[in-house]
Amino acid sequence: MSEDSLAIRQEMPEDQSEIQKLHARVFGPGRFTRTAYRVRETGAFDQQLSWVAFAGKELAGAVRLTPIRIGGRDRALLLGPLIVAPQFAGKGYGRRLIAASLEAARAEGFALVLLVGDLAYYEAFGFGPVPPGQIMMPGPVDPARLLAAELMPGTLERYSGLMRAER
Ligand SMILES: CC(C)(COP(=O)(O)OP(=O)(O)OC[C@H]1O[C@@H](n2cnc3c(N)ncnc32)[C@H](O)[C@@H]1OP(=O)(O)O)[C@@H](O)C(=O)NCCC(=O)NCCS
Repeated sequence: MSEDSLAIRQEMPEDQSEIQKLHARVFGPGRFTRTAYRVRETGAFDQQLSWVAFAGKELAGAVRLTPIRIGGRDRALLLGPLIVAPQFAGKGYGRRLIAASLEAARAEGFALVLLVGDLAYYEAFGFGPVPPGQIMMPGPVDPARLLAAELMPGTLERYSGLMRAER
C-alpha cells in the first residue's frame, strides 16, 4: 500500500471501541501496569489532539495526547499510546500519526511533548532524552526512555518535578 492511500483524521468518540481492541491485541494486559498508563488513567486524553489512521475501513493505528502538568505548574502533553496494527507496520502510519499529533500540539500552543519510548524510533521526530532526575513519573521508568520534544526551542530546561495528568 502506498503512503498516498493512508487516511489520517482526528479521533472521534465512535473510534473508542476499535482503539481499545487494538490496544488489547498489541499491548495485552501488561498495558495496565505501565507507568505512562498510571499518568493517563488519572486524566483525560485530548481528542482534538489525538489521531487515527485507516486503511479503507480498517483501523490501522492511533495516537493519543494527554494534557499534563510538570511539578504542578507547567503544562505539557504526554504522547501515547502510539500503536500501529502489526499487519500495517513499516508503512509510515506511525510517522504520519506522530507528525499530525505534534502539528496539532504546536497549533494549540504547547511547548513540550513527553513520552516513554524507544529513542531509536522517536529521535527522527525531534525527541531526545530528558536529563535524569529532572522530570519524575508516578512509577518506575527507564530514564533512557523518558523522551521530550521541544515545540518551542529551549523550553525543556524550565520543566522539572513530578508529571501528573491535568484534570
Ligand atoms: C512502533 C510503531 C508505532 C511504529 O509504527 P510504524 O507505522 O511501523 O512506523 P513507521 O512505518 O512510521 O516507521 C517510521 C520509521 O521508523 C522505523 N522504525 C520502526 N520501528 C522502529 C523502532 N522500534 N526503532 C527504530 N526505528 C523504528 C521504520 O523502519 C521507519 O524508518 P524509515 O522511514 O527509514 O523506513 C509500531 O511498530 C507499533 O505499534 N509497535 C507496537 C507498539 C509500540 O511499541 N508503540 C510505541 C510505544 S507506546
